[in-house]
Amino acid sequence: MSVNLRGKNFLKILDYSADEIRYLLELSKNFKNMKRAGVRHDFLKGKNIVLLFEKTSTRTRCSFEVAGNDLGLGVTYLDPGSSQMGKKESIKDTARVLGRMYDGIEYRGYSQWIVEDLAKYAKVPVWNGLTDDFHPTQMLADLLTIEEKFGRIEGLNFTYMGDARNNMGNSLMVTCAKMGLNFTACAPKELFPDEKLVKECEMIAKESGGSIRLTEDIEEGTTGAHIIYTDIWVSMGEPEEVWDSRIKLLKSYQVNKKVMENAAKHAIFMHCLPSFHDTNTTIGAQIAEKFGIREMEVTDEVFESAQSVVFDEAENRMHTIKAVLYATLC
Ligand code: CP
Ligand code: NVA
Repeated sequence: MSVNLRGKNFLKILDYSADEIRYLLELSKNFKNMKRAGVRHDFLKGKNIVLLFEKTSTRTRCSFEVAGNDLGLGVTYLDPGSSQMGKKESIKDTARVLGRMYDGIEYRGYSQWIVEDLAKYAKVPVWNGLTDDFHPTQMLADLLTIEEKFGRIEGLNFTYMGDARNNMGNSLMVTCAKMGLNFTACAPKELFPDEKLVKECEMIAKESGGSIRLTEDIEEGTTGAHIIYTDIWVSMGEPEEVWDSRIKLLKSYQVNKKVMENAAKHAIFMHCLPSFHDTNTTIGAQIAEKFGIREMEVTDEVFESAQSVVFDEAENRMHTIKAVLYATLC
């Protein structure tokens, strides 16, 4: 079946079929090879995109900028302080203005409805660079990394430890369901994903040959896992006050040597980053002082180990975002 994504939004993985995702991964591999070989690929010269960031970013912003530049695109970056969006101008009006000037719009921010609304009114492709609910561009980078490490995606056992109802937990569960992986959310009950989304993913997994499991039991949840994945315990946009309760809920779900030893023999460790694996950050140091913990969701030992593929994932953000830009704008 041929895949054509021209003009399509990229708002959440739920909107994409497994074939479309595979197509984007193939395209990403081609772009990665071209970049490595120094082959020019400014196929989209003459087009322009705008990047709207209401939350901070290193990887996503740089990936969109570098991918855009490599493809020959003009790229405009707008942060919360430098646009009218939200404060003086509605999402609907912003979408209609930017849609007249740009060939595509990236949005990182809060509610999923904002990016869905932008897409509804912009009349050009809109890409979700992370909302409170989903982080779809991260999913492509993670799948590409998994395929590079295992030579396959389907049938692998994937365990996510941590806040399983945040944007990463939701997106990974959907992605695993679509692509036929066996997904386990290993978390305290309070942080299990939304029941409706779980049901939807169970239906999708039935079709793909994957499975969905939720467990509070760390030994059960990590035994035989090919991939152990975690994310920060408090996400962007959450109030500082939640650190206390989140640390209490999640400290036993830290990815450490014991967890990795319980996983499959050649298991890998993944993290979307940024990560609190030491005290070399302002927040990391503050948490250490206030709560007496020097490593949070992952120990420095695991983060720095040979099993950790976090910087491959980070690099793959750029190759996969390039594929999304190309496929939807070409
Ligand atoms: N993983 C990720 O989205 O990183 P940034 O927040 O730095 O963009
Ligand atoms: N859950 C994290 C992901 C960062 C890429 C956050 O939203 O802050």
